[in-house]
Amino acid sequence: YATKIVLGIETSCDDTSAAIVTSDRQILSEVVKSQQEMHEPMGGIVPTLASLGHSRHLPNVICETLDRAQLSISDIDAIAVTRGPGLPPCLPVGLNAAKTLAAVHKKPLIGVHHMEAHALTARLTTPTPFPFMTLLISGGHTLLLTANGLGDYDALGTTLDTAVGEAIDKVARALKLEWEGKSSPGPALERAAALGDPSRFTLPMPLLQRKKSMIAFSFSGLKTSVERQIQDQVQTQQDVYDMAAAFQLTCIQHLEQKLKLALHQEITMQKKPLTALVVSGGVASNALFRSKLEQVAALYDLPLVCPPPKLCTDNGVMIAWAGLERLEAGLLDDYTITTLPRWPI
Ligand code: KG4
Ligand code: ZN
Repeated sequence: YATKIVLGIETSCDDTSAAIVTSDRQILSEVVKSQQEMHEPMGGIVPTLASLGHSRHLPNVICETLDRAQLSISDIDAIAVTRGPGLPPCLPVGLNAAKTLAAVHKKPLIGVHHMEAHALTARLTTPTPFPFMTLLISGGHTLLLTANGLGDYDALGTTLDTAVGEAIDKVARALKLEWEGKSSPGPALERAAALGDPSRFTLPMPLLQRKKSMIAFSFSGLKTSVERQIQDQVQTQQDVYDMAAAFQLTCIQHLEQKLKLALHQEITMQKKPLTALVVSGGVASNALFRSKLEQVAALYDLPLVCPPPKLCTDNGVMIAWAGLERLEAGLLDDYTITTLPRWPI
């Protein structure tokens, strides 16, 4: 059984990234070219600008990824690339590069689902057999699903409005937190919340009344309530910390409530027993989210599997790893595939 080597390319959002990963779980190299400086003054990601950034940087990012691994393209067994979901002008930059490289060098091409890649990343660091429950919490998604096998997922619930990470980013901006060179305001919110008292402000718990028994998430009402209270009641630095703490805790408690509903449902349905709760996506790099969700998993005798923070944010490694899993299962694509910006999992 020969070790396989896959190059992964990711251009679904604002970071241009590539990585080379082996089937024996070695990350040979990874390069991320952040576009944060370009988007920060705009107050959010501008898709057409992001696409231009990918066009500009992707060739050098791929070159550097190969150089750092001291490999040439002929050493690579397959090229994996994010096919969707993602920003419509951004996805084709990565996909076209991958298709052309693969076609010219006669390598297999693997189109990867970005959210499947987030879910599978856990298996790179911690071998986790199917089925497992996954909570994907990122800037674009809040998605709870059961992973039954490669390409086989039961979506249990998603957000009815904005993603948890998007709400975090908006609230962090409303609180005027400093980013300090990070690729998103999330870590700044976590740092501010650690200095605050979460009980100082009363915030509405989402989906607690009419939709109490529904497995779904909602963050826009909470976000609006926080923004309103910031205008009226947040003045001192301590107010900022306290509001950050109250908001962060409400987000976590909302996720906990719905996760318990889903775990209860999956366990009483008595299918093949779950092996783990996997939590990934950018928000999973937050230590308090992780520890609270670990407590919920423990109630159901499940281990919490969390990829290391670095692998929780968008990166080429997760695409390369998802590509490896697909390569080994013989799930290849041909050179005519196109992007799927709204690809359901
Ligand atoms: O997975 P990701 O890098 O990108 C996608 O959205 O696909 O997730 C980014 C999100 C952002 O909303 C960011 O603010 C959030 O993850 N995030 C955090 C933390 N680090 C990143 N949220 C809370 N605490 C953190 N430490
Ligand atoms: Zn992502």
